[in-house]
Order: sequence, then C-alpha cells, then structure tokens
Amino acid sequence: MSYRDTYAAWQADPEGFWMDAARRIDWDRPPSRAFFDQGPAGEWFADGMLNACWNAVDRHVESGRGDQVAIIHDSPITGTTGRITYADLRDRVAGLAGALRAQGIEKGDRVIIYMPMVPEALEAMLACARLGAIHSVVFGGFAAHELAVRIDDATPKAVLAASCGVEPGRTVSYKPLLDRAIDEAAHKPDFCVILQRDQDPAPMIPGRDLDWHDFRHGAEPADCVPVEGNHPAYVLYTSGTTGQPKGVVRHTGGHMVALAWSMKHVYDIDAGDVFWAASDVGWVVGHSYICYGPLTVGATTIVFEGKPVGTPDAAAYWRVIQNHRVKSFFSAPTAIRAIRREDPEGKLIGDHDLGRFKTLYLAGERADPDTIRWAEEKLGVPVIDHWWQTETGWPIVSNPVGIELLPVKHGSPSVVLPGYDVWILDEAGHPVAPGTLGAVAIKLPLPPGTLPTLWNAEDRFNKAYLSHFPGYYETGDAGYIDADGYLYVMARTDDVINVAGHRLSTGAMEEVLSAHPAVAECAVIGVADRLKGQLPLGLLCLKKGTNAPDAQVVREVVGMVRDRIGPVAAFKTACVVDRLPKTRSGKILRATMVKIADGEAFKTPATIDDPAVLTEIAAVLRMMGYPQRAGDGKG
Ligand code: COA
Ligand code: AMP
Repeated sequence: MSYRDTYAAWQADPEGFWMDAARRIDWDRPPSRAFFDQGPAGEWFADGMLNACWNAVDRHVESGRGDQVAIIHDSPITGTTGRITYADLRDRVAGLAGALRAQGIEKGDRVIIYMPMVPEALEAMLACARLGAIHSVVFGGFAAHELAVRIDDATPKAVLAASCGVEPGRTVSYKPLLDRAIDEAAHKPDFCVILQRDQDPAPMIPGRDLDWHDFRHGAEPADCVPVEGNHPAYVLYTSGTTGQPKGVVRHTGGHMVALAWSMKHVYDIDAGDVFWAASDVGWVVGHSYICYGPLTVGATTIVFEGKPVGTPDAAAYWRVIQNHRVKSFFSAPTAIRAIRREDPEGKLIGDHDLGRFKTLYLAGERADPDTIRWAEEKLGVPVIDHWWQTETGWPIVSNPVGIELLPVKHGSPSVVLPGYDVWILDEAGHPVAPGTLGAVAIKLPLPPGTLPTLWNAEDRFNKAYLSHFPGYYETGDAGYIDADGYLYVMARTDDVINVAGHRLSTGAMEEVLSAHPAVAECAVIGVADRLKGQLPLGLLCLKKGTNAPDAQVVREVVGMVRDRIGPVAAFKTACVVDRLPKTRSGKILRATMVKIADGEAFKTPATIDDPAVLTEIAAVLRMMGYPQRAGDGKG
C-alpha cells in the first residue's frame, strides 16, 4: 500500500485501522474496541489488558529470540561495550522487579529513575512496567532542584539512581544531587536503590539507600502483571512556559500499539534489525525509541554513552553504526552540525563500512537544509527530518519510509502520518490556505500513544492544549503546509526554546534570574546559534542602588541557573540593560528582541510603550556581538 492509500484507509476507518495495528501486541485480554470517548481528550484500548514488559521482553524469549542481543551498551566515554540477550534481559528485569515488589512496589506506585546511559536504566524502566508501577525518568543533566520538583509532583515510593554519570572531562556525581533533591522535596521516597559505578562510588545513607546488586541478588523473579490499556506506563516531565514542568502521561495500550506501528512504518525496522537512537533515556526519544519501541518489535537497541564529538572524535557515530550493523539511526541535527564542524569533508565517514546503514532520521529541532544536504551527500542515504513532541510520544509528521520513501523536501519533515489530522489555524481558529503561516493544531482525537492528560493536572492539560482552539490539540509550533501536503515547522508560539535538541523553558530561567536579589526585572530569549540551534540569553534590569558590578551579577545568575535547572540549560550569557521593551499593557516584547538579536527584519509593534527602548537594546546586543557570535555553542 502507498502512503496515500494507508492514510486514506485510516481516514475511512480509524477504529479498524488501530484495531488492526493492535494485533502486533500481545494482550492478556484483547480490547473490545480502539477508541473510548472518556477522559479529557479520549483514551485508547481502555478495556484491554496487557503488560509492556511482556511485549518488550518476555514474548521474544517465548518465540525463540532468547539468544538474540536485545541491548548493546556502547560507552566510548568509559571505554566499555556490553551485550545483553533477550533471555538475559528477561532474567535481569524479572529479578529487579521481584526485588522491588519485595520492598512494597505495586501496580500504580510511582518510581523515579535518575540514571545515565547504562543498560540498567532500561532494566529499571522495564522492571517498573513488569509490575505495573509508573516510572518517571529524570534526565541526568538536570540539577537537584528540578529533581525535587519532580519528586514532589510524582510522589514516588522509590528512586532508582546511579552514583554518577560521565561527561567529557568530568564525572557528574548524581548521588549528592539526589540527596539534595530529597532534602528539598516535601515528599520523601521510602527507599533508593543505587547503582554504584567505579568512576565515583557514592556514600550510602543507612536505612534509605540500598546497593543495586545486593538489592537484586537472590530476589524471587516477578511475573508480568497485566494492566488496563489506559493504565499509565509512565510520566515524563517536559518544559512548559513556567518553572513547573508538565507531567506527560502515557497510557500502556496506545503506547505499545503506536510504537510497534511506527517502528515498522516510519523507521522500517523488523525483529532482528539493529536500531539506534542516539538520545538519552531522560527524553521522550529514549522512552519511545531506545527502550520500548525497538524492544517491542524484537529489534536490537543501542544504549550509547558518549557524544557525537570528543568521545574520542567525530567518528564515534560511524564506528557504532559500522560495528553494530545499524540499519536505521536517529539523531538530532545539532549532533550532525557538531560532527560536520570537526570533519567538514566527512573523511571519517569514508573510513567506515556503513554498508548496512539505510536511513538517517533527525528530530528534536528544525533540521536546517544545509545540514541535511551535507549528511545526504556524505552518507549517501536518505536523511529524514521528522517532527513530534514529548506529548505525542511518536512522530506526527514524517517521511513514511517503512511504507514508501516519498520525495524529500529540504526544510520539511514531510507528510502527516495516519492517526493525525493536522491543520494550520489563524489566531481565531480558522484554517488558512496552503502556504500560509499559522498555528499547527491537530484535530481531536489524538491517536493512540499520545498524552491523554497531564499528571495531577487535568485543568492545566485543558488550558495548555485544548482551550485555545476548541476541538483541536494545540502543538505550540507554528508552520505551514504546502500544496503537496508537506508541513514546514518554523517556530514555537510559546516561551519554549530548543537548545541542542533539548526543550527548555525560558520562563523557568526567568524565575531563577528574578530570584537574584539585585534583579528587578528580566527576560530570557532564545537566540540563534550555529551549533545548538538556539541558546538562551538573559537580559537583566537591576534594582536601583545595586552596588555590585554588572559582571558580578551576570556571573552569579549564570551560576544560579546551572545550580537550579542544570548544565543542560546551557545558560552562559546575560547582560544588564536599563529597560526592557514592553507593550503599553506591560508585556515584554521577547519576540522582537529575538529578531534584533538574530539580525532579522522586524516591525516595531503598534502596541509598544516606548520605541526608543528597542534602539537601546539593539545597541547593547550589537556590543555583545549579536547577531550570531562565534556560534561555538558555548555562549
Ligand atoms: N548528565 C549531566 N550533565 C549533562 C548531561 C547528563 N546526562 N548531558 C549533558 N550534560 C551537560 C554537559 O556536560 C554540558 O555541560 P558543560 O556546560 O559543563 O559543558 C551541558 O550539560 C550542555 O550539554 P550539551 O547540550 O550536551 O552540550 P555540549 O556542548 O556538551 O555538546 C552537542 C554539544 C551538540 C555535542 C550535544 O548537545 C549533543 O550531542 N546533542 C545531541 C542532543 C540529542 O541527541 N538530543 C536528543 C533529542 S532527539
Ligand atoms: P520535545 O518535546 O522535547 O521532543 O520537543 C518538541 C518540540 O521540538 C516541538 O514542538 C518542536 O518545537 C521541536 N521539534 C521537534 N522536532 C522538530 C522538527 N523535526 N522540526 C522542527 N521542530 C521540531
């Protein structure tokens, strides 16, 4: 079937389409139907019973794939490589789940996972899934305060953590961050299980902390606990417009069905193939396409603990693709830009045998045509930009390579996938003509695998996603669709920025800056950066009578953001200004400042209070070297 036929088949009979897709999943009790008109935006496969760990692990052992490698851990940063077969994985996960159950973890309990890219992180996720416990993975680059916020929102019974992560040139001690987070949080988990790593073993708190290996040793293996199709598999926090992250809920049934469908039809992956997503378990890519997706279809997944450059060089990705015979590879444009900067001629690519490698997928930020062209030319494979979000859990718009490879248009992630009905709306919610820029919205209901609500925050879910355009889900992105049905995603419509493929909230950073005693008012904007796509830039107005030199305040706020949000925010640049440009009603004109910083043409908003402020801001930014300074991603 062609893409057009497949999309038309879904449009004609969405129920039949998704019930058919559900047959790729093992059910303890098959669902009686696909869509349930319940909850704030509908639910999928709600009366079916299944277990995500069974689908991702045990069923492959039962069907004779026990000796196949399930997980390859390739860690150039620690100089190790390891392999775990499906049979080993089943035993390890069943043992860990048994130990968790013996400590009181049951279906519905929350468990926070705070780990680097080690296979135990996937084992922890799967062990929770085995019991029907709801995991919430927190990215290692977040600081203690961010972890504390998530602990208070998810109220976990347990935390599973590693003693440290390893970044180029430094060891990141996770355990002190965890201790600080638990001190700060009002909610206290019953116990913590710590994976001690040789690079930085951590002191343990007696009565609370348990050693991972001792904990698991001798535990009675646990069987898979069937859960309802609408039982939450996990909660994953993502940036919104404020410092309080949104807890995206993923229901088990739709999650499994959508991942199995997309592994085949988007990523062209079948059982026995090797699939690699070079992301982190702390992001949605890690949940969907490092852990659950590849494993659910019986493929081999790679847990890569390293960077595109510097571990040790710009050949790291090509070495992994060659050595592990990767078929489809998923990365972020920023990583390809980093490689290109080190190896512009792509010489290191030529040193590797990439014969098995069929397709490169890019997501996480807009893929600039220049980077796509470079990758196409140097790699000689299709380079597929595709667009999706933490909220959707799987691609909304992609070239459906597993169905058919459509012509690639640089700058567009291609076409809308079955399940999604995407519209471009004007401010009043009316559809616009092809080629016209507007808000990208998806007509409800969203397909299986997407978020049914936010954890503990149904009102916020309604307000953030459903209220602006009634009958639609608001993506927060702006773009247009051309006459051939190709979508172009151009910008965010909110205060979310995208730094090296990481989604960050400028509002959260502003909250930190405002807490500095000398700061009267501030704004954080995302300015263009050649490597990371965007970088945050802080503009500070100081309180009258502040004695501290500007440079000192800037240094202090940079330290505060690193300390409270984490190094991943990459907040390294701020400047002091006399005034911020505002509308007459007092709204800070962030979008106009972004245009000035990026050297783009802009119109002075009619509602501006004092146009002279824009001239002042432009002068300060020019002095700082904007538009686009060195573009080295270091601010
Ligand atoms: N634990 C602790 N710290 C982490 C971390 C983790 N898991 N991940 C990143 N950090 C730290 C980094 O060490 C860095 O700290 P520094 O300020 O002391 O240098 C900071 O967070 C920013 O990290 P990063 O965004 O990775 O920038 P970088 O300059 O180290 O590397 C790239 C630049 C382009 C190589 C890198 O951003 C990259 O590989 N990006 C790909 C992102 C990706 O795959 N995203 C997935 C979305 S699909
Ligand atoms: P996250 O939830 O972290 O995956 O971030 C999702 C956001 O990243 C989207 O809403 C977009 O703003 C941006 N994004 C992701 N993929 C793309 C893409 N292929 N093109 C443009 N923007 C993208």
